[in-house]
Order: sequence, then C-alpha cells, then structure tokens
Amino acid sequence: MTICCGRSKTCLLIFLVLGYLCGQSRGQYVDDPSAIQNVTYTYDNNVLSGSMMIKSYPNNMNAYIYYETYDGVWNMTGTTITVHWQWENSENTYGNWSFSGAISPYGISKFYVYLVLVESGVTYTDDNNGQYYVVANGAPRSTANCTGYDVVRTSVSNGITSLDLALNGNGCALYSPDVKYLTVSITPYSADLVRIKITDTANKRWQLPANVVSEGTPSKSIKTKSYSVSYTNSPFTFKVSRPSGEVLFDTNVSGLPSLIYEDEYLEISSILPENANIYGLGDMADSFRRSPDTTLQTLWNIDQATTRKNNAYGSHPVYYELRDGMVHGVFLRNSNGMDIALVPGQITYRVIGGVLDFYVFTGPTPAAALDQYTSIIGKPAFVPLWTLGFHQCRYGGTWVSTQGIKDTVDSLQQAGLYLDTVWADINYMNAYDDFTLGSSFWDWNAYVSTLHKENLHHVPIVDPGIPIVNGYRPYQDGLSSDIFLKWPNGTLFFGQVWPGITVWADWFHPQSGNWWTKQIMKFHQIDSFDGLWIDMNEASNFVTPTGYEPAYKINNNGAWGITGLNTRTLSTNLTHYSGVTEYNVHNLFGHYEAIHTHNALSALNPGKRTFVLSRSSFAGTGSVSQKWNGDNSATWDDLYLSIPQIMSNQLFGIPMVGSDICGFNGETTEELCNRWAQLGAFYPFSRHHHATGNADSFFFLWESVTQSALKAYTIRYTVLPYLYGLMQQASQTGNAVVQPLWWHNPSDTNAYGIDTQFTLGNGLLVTPVLTEGATSVTGYFPDGIWYDWYTGSAESTSAGYKTLDANLTHINVHVKGGVILPAQYPSKTTYNTTQNPYFLIAALDNNGKSSGSLYVDDGVSVNSNYSQLSFEVSGSTLTIAVSRNEFHIAPKLSSVQVWGYTSISPPNAIYLNGRRVNGAQVTLSQQVLNITGLNVDLNNKSVLHWK
Ligand SMILES: *[C@@H]1O[C@H](CO)[C@@H](O)[C@H](O)[C@H]1NC(C)=O
Ligand SMILES: *[C@@H]1O[C@H](CO)[C@@H](O)[C@H](O)[C@H]1NC(C)=O
Ligand SMILES: *[C@@H]1O[C@H](CO)[C@@H](O)[C@H](O)[C@H]1NC(C)=O
Ligand SMILES: *[C@@H]1O[C@H](CO)[C@@H](O)[C@H](O)[C@H]1NC(C)=O
Ligand SMILES: *[C@@H]1O[C@H](CO)[C@@H](O)[C@H](O)[C@H]1NC(C)=O
Repeated sequence: MTICCGRSKTCLLIFLVLGYLCGQSRGQYVDDPSAIQNVTYTYDNNVLSGSMMIKSYPNNMNAYIYYETYDGVWNMTGTTITVHWQWENSENTYGNWSFSGAISPYGISKFYVYLVLVESGVTYTDDNNGQYYVVANGAPRSTANCTGYDVVRTSVSNGITSLDLALNGNGCALYSPDVKYLTVSITPYSADLVRIKITDTANKRWQLPANVVSEGTPSKSIKTKSYSVSYTNSPFTFKVSRPSGEVLFDTNVSGLPSLIYEDEYLEISSILPENANIYGLGDMADSFRRSPDTTLQTLWNIDQATTRKNNAYGSHPVYYELRDGMVHGVFLRNSNGMDIALVPGQITYRVIGGVLDFYVFTGPTPAAALDQYTSIIGKPAFVPLWTLGFHQCRYGGTWVSTQGIKDTVDSLQQAGLYLDTVWADINYMNAYDDFTLGSSFWDWNAYVSTLHKENLHHVPIVDPGIPIVNGYRPYQDGLSSDIFLKWPNGTLFFGQVWPGITVWADWFHPQSGNWWTKQIMKFHQIDSFDGLWIDMNEASNFVTPTGYEPAYKINNNGAWGITGLNTRTLSTNLTHYSGVTEYNVHNLFGHYEAIHTHNALSALNPGKRTFVLSRSSFAGTGSVSQKWNGDNSATWDDLYLSIPQIMSNQLFGIPMVGSDICGFNGETTEELCNRWAQLGAFYPFSRHHHATGNADSFFFLWESVTQSALKAYTIRYTVLPYLYGLMQQASQTGNAVVQPLWWHNPSDTNAYGIDTQFTLGNGLLVTPVLTEGATSVTGYFPDGIWYDWYTGSAESTSAGYKTLDANLTHINVHVKGGVILPAQYPSKTTYNTTQNPYFLIAALDNNGKSSGSLYVDDGVSVNSNYSQLSFEVSGSTLTIAVSRNEFHIAPKLSSVQVWGYTSISPPNAIYLNGRRVNGAQVTLSQQVLNITGLNVDLNNKSVLHWK
C-alpha cells in the first residue's frame, strides 16, 4: 500500500514524489480540519470506546480511522483500532460513527485520530484533520484546579532553608486527596550536592529509613558552592542553577502543574533542554542514552525477563544529564512505584507515595558526578579478587547432580579454558527448598572442597520464598521468631514459588537478620560456599494475590494498570514490622535482602569481603551486593543490550555487574555464543549461564567458541591487576569500571550516543561484534592514540570511526596512549595468576609519556594491608613509586613493553636504579619495545632506564 502523506518527514518526502497523486486527486478531502468532529470517548479496562462525527465524501471510498497511542512518550504502532466502513454518499454531511476497541496495552495518555482514505488501492493519509485526546490512566482528569502551593513562611537556620507551603485553593484531588500543608527543606550537603525535600507538615508519610537506604551526611562547613537554589512563592517552584546561571533543574514548567502532592499521587516536572542527553533511570533494557522524547521509565520491581522499555528487576530513580561537556545528576530518594517520563523539553515524575526527596549534584566531570551520587547512597562494595575470574553456571541440563557439574568443569579444564567459580542453580536443592542438598548432591560438599584445593570457588543460589513444611528448620525458626510477612489481620501471607506454597521474610523485622544469618551459617556446614546468589527477590511470586491498587496506574510491565502492582509479587496490603506497608517498600525487598545477606556473610567470615549476587536492586544496593541483569535471552539484541545495561549500572553505583553470557533463555547459536564469549570476557562480572530446557552452550562445545574464549579471557586474566585496581578505585570513589566513550572527553558529542563500545577504566577500549554474520566492525576512537592490543601498533591517532577486521575468533581491543596497564602472566585461575610475574604495558601518548598504577592486597580482607604503586614512563625512563608498601608483593616485575617507541634502534643497555641489568633482553619491532629478563622487586621504589 502506498502512503501518500503522514506526519513524518519521510512521509513528506514521499508526498513530494507522489505529490501529483495526493495533492491533485484528493487534496480537497485531505486537508480538512473539520472532517472529524465531536469525539467522545471512555477508556476503561483497556478498552477505548466512543463516537464521533465524520464528514462524508462523494466517492465510493473505503475509509479507516486509526487510533495511534501517543502521549509524547509512547508511539506504539500496532496499537490501532481500525474502523472500516463502506462510504455513503452525500458530500459534506456528517455521519455518526461509534468505535470500540482494545488499545493494549501501552501508554494511553493520548490517542490520535485521523482519517485515511483508500481508493483503488491507493491510500491517502491525512492527519491535518487529526486530533489528540487525553485519556491518561482511565477517565481523563483535568489538572485545571491543580494550582500548586504557596510559600507562607520562610526561615533559614544553619544554612538550611525551610519553607512552609499551603495548598493554593481547594486543590485538584487528581487521584487522591491533596495534602494541605507542606514543608520544604533545602539542605546544602557539600560544595556540589544539595538536597531538597518536600514533606507533609502535619501527617506522617512513608519515608526511607537511613539504615535501609543511606541519605548521606551534610558537610559541616561548605565554602564555595557550585550551585544555587532559588524558588518562586506563588505557586511554589524551585530551581537549581550553576553559578554561571545555567539552570540544571527547574520545576517551573510552563503548561504543567507546579506541584501535585496527594496521599497517593505526587507529580513534579523539570525543564530539560531540547534533545537532552539523559543517562540512567533503571533497571531497563534500552539504549544507554535515553530518548529525551519518548522515554517512560516505570519503577516497580518485577520478575520479568528483560524486554525493551519495560520496568525490570530493580529501581534506580537517578538520572545524569550531559550538557555542554558537563555532567550533573538528580536522584529522587523515594521507594514507591513511579513513572518517570522524558518528553521533549521536560522530565515528569509521577509517584504513588512517599515524599519528594531530591538530591541534585553538579559534577561537572562524570567521575565527580558518580563520586557525589555514591556519597549519598554508599560507595560500591569492594569485591574479592576471585570474583573477577570466569564463572560457570547452568540451570537444569546435566547440572542436576554433582557428577553432572563435575563433568562440565572437567571438560572446561581439559579444553584449557579459564575458570574460577562453579555455580549451582536451584537444581542442587532438595525439592527446591533453600539450604538443603538434593539426593544427587549427597557428595557435593566433598566436591566443593576439591574445587577449593584447585583455587576455584563456589556460589549457590538461595531464594527468598520459604516453603511451609513442618520440621523444615528455616520455616520453623522463622515462625518462632515471627519474622514472616503477614496480612494486616495477622495471618501469614502465602504465595507460590519453586518449592510450592511459601512465606517470605519481613526484612524490616528486627529478628529477620539473625534468622537469615543462622540459616546461612547452618547451610555453610553442608555446602562450604564462597558467596551467595540471591534470586527471585523482586519479590517474585508465581501467583498474583489480591491487594490494593491506587487510582493512578503506573505503567507496570508496560501495561498501565492492566498489569497491576500485585502482579506476580507480594500483596501491596501486607504489613511489615511496625506497620510499614508493602505498598511503600515493594521496591526494597531485594535491596534489604542483599543487606541481610551481606551481613550474614560478614558474620560467617568476619573481616572478609562478601560476594552477593542479587537480581533485584535499589539505590545503594551496590554498597553491599553485586548484580547481574537477570533472565536475558540468546538473541543478538540481548547481546547488544548487555552493554547499555552494564554502563547504566555503573551510574547506579553497581560497577560489578554482568549479563548471562551466550544468553539465558532460548537456544543460542555457535556464532552468537562465540561473539558473546568475546564480549563477556570484558564484563566486570563474567558468567556463562543457560536455562533449563535448552541445549548446552558451554564454550568447549564448539571449536570456534573455545578459541574465542581462550583468546579473550587470556586478555582478561592478563590485565587482572588492572581490573582489580579499577574495582578498588570504584569502591573508594564510585567511579565507573565500564565507561562510555564520552567519559574520556565529555565534550565529544560524537560519543554521546555510543553504546556498542566501552572502555574498561580509561585504558582498554572494547569494540565487540554485535551483528550476525559480520566479519568486521566499525568503531569509534576518541581522541588520542589507541594501540591494537594484539600487535601494540597504533590503530588510531585522532578521533573518528574506523572499520576493523573482526574474524570469528577476534575481538578488537585497544589500549589508550598515555596509559600503563599493570599485567600478570595469566594462569587459568585468578589465584594462580596472582602468583605469576608482573609485566607492564606502557602505551605512550603523543608526548612519549604514560602512567598507571598498581594496587595489591590479599584479595579477600575488608581492611587488608595493601601496597600502592604508581608507574610513569617519560623519555627512556620508567619510574616506579611506592606510596604504600604494607602488603608484600612476592612476584617480580619481569618485563616492560613500551608501545609507540619511536627510536629507530633498540636501546643497548638497561639500568635498574643506575645499575646495568645484565640478564635483560631487548627487542624492537613495529615501535614495540620489549624489555624482558627483568627481576624488579615491586616492594621498593625503582627507576628503570634504557639507553
Ligand atoms: C510515531 O511513529 C510514526 C510512524 O512510525 C512516525 O512517523 C512519527 O514520527 C512518530 N512520532 C514520534 C513522536 O515519535
Ligand atoms: C459538534 O458539536 C457542536 C456543539 O454541540 C455542534 O455545534 C456541531 O454541530 C457538532 N458537529 C456535528 C458535525 O454534529
Ligand atoms: C475546580 O474547582 C471548582 C471549585 O471547587 C469546581 O466547581 C470545579 O468542578 C473544579 N474543576 C475540576 C475540573 O475539577
Ligand atoms: C486475613 O486477611 C486475609 C486477606 O484478606 C484473608 O485471606 C484471611 O482469611 C484473613 N484471616 C483471618 C483470620 O481473618
Ligand atoms: C487490601 O486493602 C484494601 C484497602 O485498604 C482493601 O479494600 C482490600 O479489601 C484489601 N484486600 C485484601 C485481600 O485484604
């Protein structure tokens, strides 16, 4: 069918080409704004119905009416109702047409109606007669009376500004009763961070306790602030600006309510620049840079295999905006369900409870912004070193007995593949009951001991649903401590997960932590695990209980209230300890479980770092736990999405994150698994996992995948000291381990939208193949010199795109000029690698210089003694400075590579601290100088010189 003209530019182009057809023959009909009149409609339970008057035309034509759902956020094609009728005569008379149809299930907040005329197979689309209608969340609601609040009293004390607000007029009760009086406090937290909190003056509302979600601590004395906060009095709006006057957040948005503050509905918006560069808001599976025009991010944790545009397992109400090379961020510290919409020029929050508690941080560098955000929610936990190795997991398949798992491990090792950690999914349990071993795992713990002897580790899964089985200790103990979740009338709440009918712990109960710790400690006696994997903690429930649904329907699972809040989770009616309602804390279930699990592991191994892999998360979860992106699928799109997901989690303060390699759900292919092995080798958390019901997808099953995995993981294990150093830095500063390319130069607008490549730290650029059948890949190189990992030759010397060969077993990796990567000769486990000699890769910048650092400790202790070294190459000298040497570094530095070495001939002699090193050998090829045969003690400062 030919579309003559529509609203898009493409259509306009087509219109020009077909102009004679569209314009001449049907022009008189297609530009008539009065063609549709008097539309009435109702929208209820997913059905839009109503009537309208449509002008008729003389010719015997078919006509259609399309209802396109559109609210500036959504533009879902395929959600149209078609009304089709045979034309009747009488030109310019109006016929009354009724319509009714399911508009399912996406984002109806406006629909669009226009005419399409069809004659002799040619379609004339005319939207000049089209009109938008608002049907947000059921019957349309007028915001005419939502006139906001007036400032009635102001006071300033200790630098904190307090405002009393009173509702202007009678309010609008859009979705629930208006709160009459509000209190605003504006608290400077640091030179770069300010908190603006709006609470109910008279009545208690749900507010996040600081022991569950940290609220940061204001500095005592703040000298110069990099922001100013101002407000308007009537109606009250507030604005945060940079000293330059640049406005970062401004709730005075023309045409929108200034502030709606109701019992179960809060709405506030801020101005954004057109085409704003917004990152963050999650969990989600979407591009890293969020569409500034059509993003709707719903936050309501759900066990939903990650699909594009849905809410997912975790909630992170924080965004970062990159504007003119500077980054700032906004965090809404609120755990309630919400929709956050980005539409052209604005961001709107629609929240169904709690308080408005904003933190605005001013960056301006990306690293500073992350440091500021993690100063509120907590710095990322420092992971044990072994967790940086390769992890093997499998659900079902042959992994239903000790022998089945052992066979896989043996095959991996025989293939020469890298392996650090052996996981166990729910199959190891007896009847899927937590903390038990099934009969085919009777010899499991002996096997775990064997793994430990080989310097391998083990992590089993634990689910929060506790089966109601008489005599089952976790259940009995929980009953005696009275820690399970209940209905308001005191009856236990039952749901259903893997083991059958279950109850769930109330993590707010003061005894729940002890109960959980006790179960974990007992379990450790029969399964000497090294970390725990907490799944199903959204919380997932196989049945949907009845429970309260507020009037404003958030877009849970992309379905605007059709999928209500109770869908496949705990009832919103449940009450936690001291009356806290599940309605308010749903999004905290996994986060709080992670806190308790971290505490339990700390109690089990005092003084040691913990490893907790959680599926669900909230702001701050990264300070106690790590994360994977849940149940992805074996598709090329999921391969790509893993990159924006991992980059977004860096912004959420969860640097240790990964996606299931080769895809969890569905059958993978050799080629997909091959490309995934290559990319996954550079995930901070690097785990292969696959769902039951699908054929095995272990690397060793295919020759090509084995080769790719060997090649890519050899890089990973080689740069282990570098990766570990990045993790250590992240735990101090919050800085991203996986960095988008604009991290290197926030003014480089070319990089703003790139999410098919990333760097590890600032030194290692990864350009994976994400397309089926490709044997090359086009990647962007930020400015500076980038050296090919494999040859040490300069690949790119100025910013721009390059197409690179990428045969099936090759992943492109480049090293940034100016960076020194600390490396070790790789063995097949991280532990064994840490015992090997060190070497350095010094990739020189345009000035012939490079620098780097090395952090070494025992790899497991919370407050380990550590050593910290810095390296600098300048001219023909490598300087090794030791700023701390508490931890004895046994392996020696055995070689140094200098990339971008421009002298024609190699040096004749190598000197260490002025003394000639006799055993040293030197080769020079293609500007790669390789100095070997060194034996440098890294516990002391030294100077290596070549001439
Ligand atoms: C909506 O989709 C149509 C058809 O794909 C496109 O022409 C139009 O530009 C889209 N509108 C927005 C706001 O994205
Ligand atoms: C639509 O409603 C208006 C106001 O009631 C009326 O004047 C007009 O005639 C109606 N249009 C049609 C086509 O019936
Ligand atoms: C606005 O408030 C006035 C006075 O209370 C009331 O009569 C009117 O119906 C309200 N309008 C809407 C759209 O709610
Ligand atoms: C308590 O409330 C729940 C949910 O409404 C209900 O199923 C249960 O029967 C009630 N228990 C008692 C003892 O009334
Ligand atoms: C949940 O709470 C609402 C409102 O408080 C109540 O109307 C409803 O009956 C409750 N449902 C259950 C199952 O208890």
